[in-house]
Amino acid sequence: MSEHEEIINRFEEAGQGHVFRFWDTLSEDRREHLIAQAKEIDLAEIDHLIQTLVKGDQGVHLDLSGLRPAPYIALPEHGGDQAAWAEARLAGEKALRAGKVAAFTVAGGQGTRLGYAGPKGTFPVTPVRRHSLFQVFAEKLLAAERRYECELLWFLMTSHANHEDTVAFFEENHFFGLNPDRVHFFRQGRMPAVDFEGKIILEAPDAIAMSPDGHGGALRALVRSGAVNRMELAGVDIVSYFQVDNPLVRCIDPAFIGFHLQSGSEMSSKMVPKAYEKEKVGHFCIQNGRLVVVEYSDMPDELTSMRDENGELRFRAGSIAIHLLSREFIRRMGEGTSDVVLPFHRAEKKIPFVDDAGATHKPEQPNGVKFEMFVFDALPFAQNPIVVETKRSDEFSPVKNAEGIDSPATCRADQLKLFARWMNASGIAVPVDENGVPTIAIEIAPTFATDEDSFAESWAALDPKPEIRDGLVLA
Ligand code: UTP
Repeated sequence: MSEHEEIINRFEEAGQGHVFRFWDTLSEDRREHLIAQAKEIDLAEIDHLIQTLVKGDQGVHLDLSGLRPAPYIALPEHGGDQAAWAEARLAGEKALRAGKVAAFTVAGGQGTRLGYAGPKGTFPVTPVRRHSLFQVFAEKLLAAERRYECELLWFLMTSHANHEDTVAFFEENHFFGLNPDRVHFFRQGRMPAVDFEGKIILEAPDAIAMSPDGHGGALRALVRSGAVNRMELAGVDIVSYFQVDNPLVRCIDPAFIGFHLQSGSEMSSKMVPKAYEKEKVGHFCIQNGRLVVVEYSDMPDELTSMRDENGELRFRAGSIAIHLLSREFIRRMGEGTSDVVLPFHRAEKKIPFVDDAGATHKPEQPNGVKFEMFVFDALPFAQNPIVVETKRSDEFSPVKNAEGIDSPATCRADQLKLFARWMNASGIAVPVDENGVPTIAIEIAPTFATDEDSFAESWAALDPKPEIRDGLVLA
């Protein structure tokens, strides 16, 4: 039996033979294309997901019993221990100087809500220079390399859909001044979408509807791509994980790294206090002695609104998708065993499909299910996980939607406010409107400053000082 026949047989036996229903009409290269996609699919895994998440009880029997708020390390201004923060920072700086830390960006998402043509990381995000998200991160890494006299590796996870465009963007921009040998791209895995009967959806006669397997797919992709081995060879023990959509993120944060090391944590997370009860962020909770993130949609109302003795939200620790992971924890999770494995979640989506004549249709209503893993589902498997507070205005303003909250407009305003705050702290006045948003566009490059203190240093060294005006760029 040829390899093709063998694969087609396996799909038939699994009740998915319809994937090849246009086989006889396909040219040789289109057949190869379809077979290559089919080879990516683990039929036993898909069958299990169909039985549990599509046909079964849909995995909705979430056990939310016994949830407690997760403890976290508070910022000094919220009662945290100033000396402990200073000590953590020193420990983190030491690890950075010793080359123990690598950066990791998950950039494989489809970015459907933003609706921008092109990889999200290429979105022009900064207020004056319109630099891309990727460039902002690259400059933050350059700044960290200079400050800690180290060479950082940067891993970027792409998807099949955006990999080539992402790599080309870096090449066209000469890697924004980074050493190309230290920037490492790899594609994440894909999963087929299925209809509500559990049949794999074809989006064209020669193409299965495949989509990225979620940011949780990062763990197995880091292992499969060889990235984890590459880290080991380079002596990297800690991976600084951040999403592609948040230009405020401190890609490299010594205090966070220090706390992670001091507590022997395998996976650490940053939190911000929720802005209001129903804010759509995951909640850090403790359940059965394990740290978990409960999605906002799963949190019972009586818990989201519960207050403590100070009148503050009891479950206030919101997840902002910034983590540190130890290399060997990634390896363990990414290799997976039957009892150490990230669960899949189902998401009902509108998935283009072919009719029997081979024409593709875009449905108006959700017609099927995609399967995704979430990185925070690794937390319950981690030893000594910790949660560390950060300030929202310092570190979190994602670009998710085309308009409204978490949009380019809110992110621009948040960047301007942050830059103005650093300037104010050095005694420089910036005109603002009634919402505190600067009325002039200003931009501070990460290579000039990444916080109040580094701004003060760089500003002090400037001679002559520039005029504070619309369009000012400090780089
Ligand atoms: P989001 O949850 O915002 O999803 O991803 P998205 O796909 O980018 O956007 P929408 O929902 O289609 O509008 C959060 C982060 O996780 C990455 C994204 O690139 C982003 O950095 N991600 C998400 C992946 O790397 N792979 C995925 O499969 C999903």
